[in-house]
Amino acid sequence: MVINKDLDALLEYIHQRTRILAFELEMELSYESYNKIYYYLCRDFVGMNETEPILRDFFVEDIECNGIDTPIYVVHRYYRNIKTNIEFENLARAESFTEKLAQRCGKHISYSQPILDGSLQDGSRVNATYTKDITSRGPTFTIRKFTQTPWTPPQLISFKTLSLEMMAYLWMLVEHKMNILIAGGTGSGKTTLLNVLAFFIPPEARVVSIEDTREINLPRENWLPGVSRSATGTGEFGEVDLFTLLKASFRQRPDYIIVGEVRGKEAFVLFQGMASGHPSISTIHAESVETVIKRLETPPIELPPTLMNVLDCVCIMGQAIVNKQETRKVKEIVEIVNVEESGAALTNTPFVWNPKDNEFYFKRTSKIFEKIALRYGKNREEIEKEFRQRVIQQKKYGFHEVQDIINEYYKNPQGILKKFGIAQ
Ligand SMILES: Nc1ncnc2c1ncn2[C@@H]1O[C@H](COP(=O)(O)OP(=O)(O)OP(=O)(O)O)[C@@H](O)[C@H]1O
Ligand SMILES: [Mg+2]
Repeated sequence: MVINKDLDALLEYIHQRTRILAFELEMELSYESYNKIYYYLCRDFVGMNETEPILRDFFVEDIECNGIDTPIYVVHRYYRNIKTNIEFENLARAESFTEKLAQRCGKHISYSQPILDGSLQDGSRVNATYTKDITSRGPTFTIRKFTQTPWTPPQLISFKTLSLEMMAYLWMLVEHKMNILIAGGTGSGKTTLLNVLAFFIPPEARVVSIEDTREINLPRENWLPGVSRSATGTGEFGEVDLFTLLKASFRQRPDYIIVGEVRGKEAFVLFQGMASGHPSISTIHAESVETVIKRLETPPIELPPTLMNVLDCVCIMGQAIVNKQETRKVKEIVEIVNVEESGAALTNTPFVWNPKDNEFYFKRTSKIFEKIALRYGKNREEIEKEFRQRVIQQKKYGFHEVQDIINEYYKNPQGILKKFGIAQ
């Protein structure tokens, strides 16, 4: 999938060459035959071969190939796992496709480095394997598609992933530099929510993001996106892992640090960073606050439980079936009040989602609002008022429009409130 200005030129080039070749070879081609040939040439030279149509389908979330002689599956937004009629019949074709995937990610895959982690030009995340000895059915790949323009806060509200109040609450937290962790299972929408929360970072603030594969996409200028890389030679030579990137990031004077996913020893640096006043937002693979704490205090992370006190809030994401349809929900927002030496945590849960009636419930006591009041010298009423004002209208604005409105709000809150008829 080529997304650049040269696409038209490329298509025109193929068109010209095909016509010249057809003329030289004295081929008598009907209009239909020519179009068919042209389609396959474009699909395979410019596009991603047989997978091009599904890559372009907005409703497809994931594309999964388990090897040769077995159909490719897709995960559809509504119908979930579906079998396609596409499959690789021989090893050579499958290998050549994974090589192409690697090239499109600007990486390489080979017998000695048979695992690929990368991202395509449109931001889709790719994982692929190359040889039969590690995946016995042959080369495999999994593509997690991302929409080219990321989802905005009002969009997530309209999907009922979280309520208006929850979004406004999270906005308050981001603006007041609280540390947030988004937890959930595989594909529960953690990265998507992380990206949405980043919309609320004040426009001039410097953001440094650190990821294994580039997924975060922010509509802002003052942003330094960092991506780790694997070793370039034998051993660990040339490797730049999350830990190293994160350590370096503190010298880049960030106002906010975003870590795509914490998994290993980088968590230690992240929490040290939070403790030294660098607000951070990150995701972790865990289903509840208890498992988040367990994961953080056991190897390979081994964080001392008391250091977890710098964490302000954990959002628990999950998949849920509502009206026979799979949806993503922010199941709980939990505030960390105190984590003891033993790992026992005292928490407060201002928001929960109730699966029975598919409603979000808001308990009005927020410990973090008290923290904000203390830290910023404001009183509770002011905080409540600010919170109410942030309950932005549930309209579907585009990607850039939402960012513009939020940026404008930071400069001129009254003007924006008037514009939307919230204040006189
Ligand atoms: N709120 C949502 N409503 C509907 N679909 C969503 C929502 N959030 C994410 N998705 C879709 O679900 C898929 C997975 O999302 P995402 O990558 O954010 O999950 P994740 O938890 O970060 O996954 P992983 O554990 O693999 O990193 C994406 O295709 C995305 O488009
Ligand atoms: Mg993710």
